[in-house]
This record gives sequence, C-alpha cells and structure tokens, in this order.
Amino acid sequence: MCGIVGLVGQANAAEHVLEGLKRLEYRGYDSAGIATLDHGRIHLHRKRGKLQGLVDLLREQPLPGSIAIGHTRWATHGRPSDENAHPHRVDDIVLVHNGIIENYLELRSELTALGRKFESETDTEIIAHLIATTPAKSLVERVRATLLRVQGAYAIAVLSPSEPDTIVVAKNASPLVLGISETLGIVASDIPALLPYTRTVKILEEGELAVIRPGSIVITKLDGAPVERAARVIDWSPVMAEKGGHKHFMHKEVFEQPRSVVDTLRGRLSARGDDVELPDTVVDMVARASRVMITACGTSYHAGLVGRLAIEELARLSCEVELASELRYRHPLMGPETLTLAVSQSGETADTLAALKEARHSQSPVLSIVNVLDSSIARDSNQVLYTHAGPEIGVASTKAFITQVIAFYLLAIGAGRRRGLSEARARELVRGLRELPLTIEEILHQEPRIIEIAASLKAARSALYLGRGYGYPVALEGALKLKEISYIHAEGYAAGEMKHGPIALIEPSVPVVVIATQGPLYDKVIGNVQEVRAREGKVIAVVTQGDRRIREMADHVIEVPAVDPIFTPIVATVPLQLLAYHVADQRGTDIDQPRNLAKSVTVE
Ligand code: G6P
Repeated sequence: MCGIVGLVGQANAAEHVLEGLKRLEYRGYDSAGIATLDHGRIHLHRKRGKLQGLVDLLREQPLPGSIAIGHTRWATHGRPSDENAHPHRVDDIVLVHNGIIENYLELRSELTALGRKFESETDTEIIAHLIATTPAKSLVERVRATLLRVQGAYAIAVLSPSEPDTIVVAKNASPLVLGISETLGIVASDIPALLPYTRTVKILEEGELAVIRPGSIVITKLDGAPVERAARVIDWSPVMAEKGGHKHFMHKEVFEQPRSVVDTLRGRLSARGDDVELPDTVVDMVARASRVMITACGTSYHAGLVGRLAIEELARLSCEVELASELRYRHPLMGPETLTLAVSQSGETADTLAALKEARHSQSPVLSIVNVLDSSIARDSNQVLYTHAGPEIGVASTKAFITQVIAFYLLAIGAGRRRGLSEARARELVRGLRELPLTIEEILHQEPRIIEIAASLKAARSALYLGRGYGYPVALEGALKLKEISYIHAEGYAAGEMKHGPIALIEPSVPVVVIATQGPLYDKVIGNVQEVRAREGKVIAVVTQGDRRIREMADHVIEVPAVDPIFTPIVATVPLQLLAYHVADQRGTDIDQPRNLAKSVTVE
C-alpha cells in the first residue's frame, strides 16, 4: 500500500526521504519516487518497481535540496509505470497522494474543458492540476481551496518553489503522522519512517491540514480553524522495526510470538493470575449484547472465526462472522442490540473501516481489536482492545493473528463470567492462557523438523488443509499463509466437507495438511485422515504430543504440546506459519513482500 515521507530542514533531504521509504517498504508497493526543491526548481525522480531502481537513479543523478517528499505507490488508478508513479508535477506544484479520489472523472472533464493536458492515468494528477490552477496567496490556501472540491480518501504532501521551506499536508481517511523535532519538519504515512528522527508525534485527524517547516508544525481544519493536538510519545525503538538478526521480518515475527502473547495479556489478568481483568466498559459491551457480528478481512477474519467459537462457547452469545467487504454491502439486521466487533492489525483496512461505519450508522455499538495505536478503526470505534503485538512488518500476518486470538479469549472469558461461565472453568482457562507463551516457545524449537517437512512440500503445485471445530480456522489460516508467501495453491477446508468436493483432488502429488490435535472432534478427524490415505494422499498432520494413532497413518507429523482444545488455534497455527515460511524460503520467494500483496489495504 502507498507510503508517504516528507522532510524539510536537512541537506540531502532526498537521501533521508529514501531511508524513510525503505522503512515503509513492508506496506507493499509497485513503484516509487522522490521530489526535491532547490534554487527555485523542482527536481524529480520516479521509477517503476522496487526501491532499488530509485536508489540507482539517485546515485547517478542525486536530487539536490534540503526539502523533499517521497512516495511508494501501490497502483489503483492506472497501471504501475514511471509516469503513474508519484510525485506528480503540474506547473509549480509537486505532490504525493495516498487514497482514492471519488469524483475524479468529473474533475478531470472540468480540467480538460479548461485545456489542461494530463501526463498520467492517475487521480492524483487531478489534485496537482487543481492546486496549480487555484489562484490564492499562499500554498496552504491553494491546497485548502482544492480539497474543498475533492471527494474521497486522501493523504497528500505538497511542495512548491513559491514556498521553498514548506510542506503542506492534509488528510481524509488515509493516515498521516507528523514528527516533532526542533530543527526538522518531518511527516510520514506510518510511524516506522519517523523513528530515526523522533519518537514524539502528532497524528493528523480527518479533514485537517498541516503546514510543516523546519522545527514548526501548524495544524488547522480545512476551513482554516486552528487545531491544538497533543503530542504522543511512541515507545517503539528503531531497532524494534528492524529484522533483529532474522533472515526475514516474518521469521522474526513468528519468533516474537511468545513475547507478543505476554504483551497482550499484560495488565489484563488479575493479580493472582486466575481471572481476566478487562475494563468494565469493554466487557459490558460484549456481556450486554444480544448478538455479536464480527467483521474483518484476510488473516484477521480467520481470528474472527476463532473468536466466534470462543464467544459462543464461553459467553453463550449468538455470534456471526462476516468478511468486511461483504458486510458493508449487505443489509444486515443490526441495531443497538448487536455488538459489532471489528478486527484489524493495521486499523486502516478500507473494507473493515467501511463495515464499521455502516454498523455505527445502524446504531450498533462497535468494539475493535486492533494492533496499531490510534489508527482509523481504533478511533472510529466506541471501545478498543489493543493487541499490543508491536509493529508487524512482514506482509503475511503472524503475531497479529495470534494476539487477536488471545484478545478474543480474554473477551470471551471476561464476558463469559458475567453470563454463567463458572469460576473454576475461567480459572482453568486463564491458567492455560498464561502457559501459552512457553508452549509456543516449545513449538518453535521444532523448527529443524519443520524445515525437513517443508522440503517434502516445496515441489507441490497444490495443497489441501483440513480441520474441524477450532481446527477449521487454523486450516484456513495455514492455507492462506502457504499461498501468500510460497505461491503454491492451497485450500483450507472444513474436514467434514471434504467428501463434498475436495476429495476429488486427492492424489499422491497433492499434500494434505490435517489439524488432528486432541479434542472432541479427534475421532472424526481420524476418519478424514483415513479417507485421504485410502486415495493415496500424502498426509502431514499436526498432532498432540504422544499421539500414536495418527503417526501410523501420516507421512509426517508435527507434535505440539497438549492444551485445552479451545487453544488449538494457537498451538496448531504456529507450526503452520513456520511450515509456510520454510517452503517459501526453500522456493526463494520474496517472503516479506509477496508479489501483488500489500500489508495495509487502505483502498477498496
Ligand atoms: C492484507 C494483509 C493481511 C491482513 C489483511 C487485513 O491483506 O496482507 O495480512 O490480514 O490485509 O488487514 P488488517 O490490517 O485489517 O488486519
């Protein structure tokens, strides 16, 4: 997804902006560019492809100046190309933009009628033309007048030689963070780009503009009204956002999971460690609801599927889970009695945000489970339960999923206690939760064995993942991980449904990964494994330590420690993350930034 970085007040600003863009690479992108101002002139490089292209270009032809804006683009309007890459220059204006302009066709025909010519297929160039043709005294006034005519989602950063030490930024529905510094002016669409310069930031809100100069930031509303915004200190260190000795961010993040679970649980268990302690405002929302509608996208949706099972089982509440991209266009029967539970790592996913707005429109209270502090979804919800997973850089989500699932357990136990869940059962579950970090450590120690199993999978063209009950969301998530990063086609299926279709695919070249840990449906899963074996399918099974029955039937087993069946999604997902990772590593794919994928999908 697109990234923005802007900096003013330091020589070789382009080099600094480039470093910032590198820190946003994880968002996924297909082209990049940087513009600077120097001696009254705009200097500009844009390049399709990975940042290395821009790095090479800058080495050959450095961009002079102590003010720069840069962009990584993920194509929405117009294919990935040098011309469509940002920044876009029109007359004395150069700008970068994240988001989508909805009334762009209308504005484009208006500009065409004025004789304006376009060099790209983007909606962004329209904004540059509008600012360039707006007569006003200052740059901020030109931007302000333009934005009053623009509908849609945007975060923009604008430069003009008319004000050579000023970056004007504005936002509506796409994130922008302003860095506080005594000597610099710095802005980015995401916090990691700011960390080398400052840990004190101000977050721009909807419909606000900021004028950034060295050591100064002035925030106003679109109508010019002044805005006072408190600064926040971000406690992520720059190294936290780096790979820390691992080959890939994804690998680092898989290994951070024991720590992330501790962080999610921190401050949310009673001092004696035998009960859940969440804010009453949060637990009340769940406990008092007549029903729950969980909504999310991608991996977060899979966490939602686990959440439904846990809330239903422990809090005895009727619960649905719906993909946000579907929910937003349905006509669901939702009102104040239905709690909407939005789940998102980034807190910026456009479909989830839109589903949440629909829910609020129907008077449904919204609770969200979010990782990124102060993100749009967090700000638009009535209550937020942060997962505290820390920055997740790898595009394929790992620790965010595990901590979302933990957050669901906390909610289900907390609400369950008010809805008839016994103290003894709650105590047992909380004990289980506290043991999970160590259990995950134990699973991670099995990496060498998983690397061997990955070698047997890496030549496959297609794979099937099967699970039942709490194992079903694991099958979906395991298959998603494999397809995302190794590009092997993989399908997750409810094991009981195999006979209704996927069984036709089974043959020796299609490995079948089965979640077969101990639990109420264990015998049923054994039946499914036998069906696969009968058709000469190759079975890789995730089993509970000491399991003998499946060992005899499976080609490979991955053993995980025995846990309460409700925690199956934690113990069975971790090895499947590692399996997908090592298959992808052995196939040599771009694991942290898989082709065509973006970390944070802020457009529909
Ligand atoms: C993208 C990411 C996935 C993520 C999904 C939802 O597709 O690549 O890893 O699960 O968006 O993102 P969210 O930030 O809302 O959890």
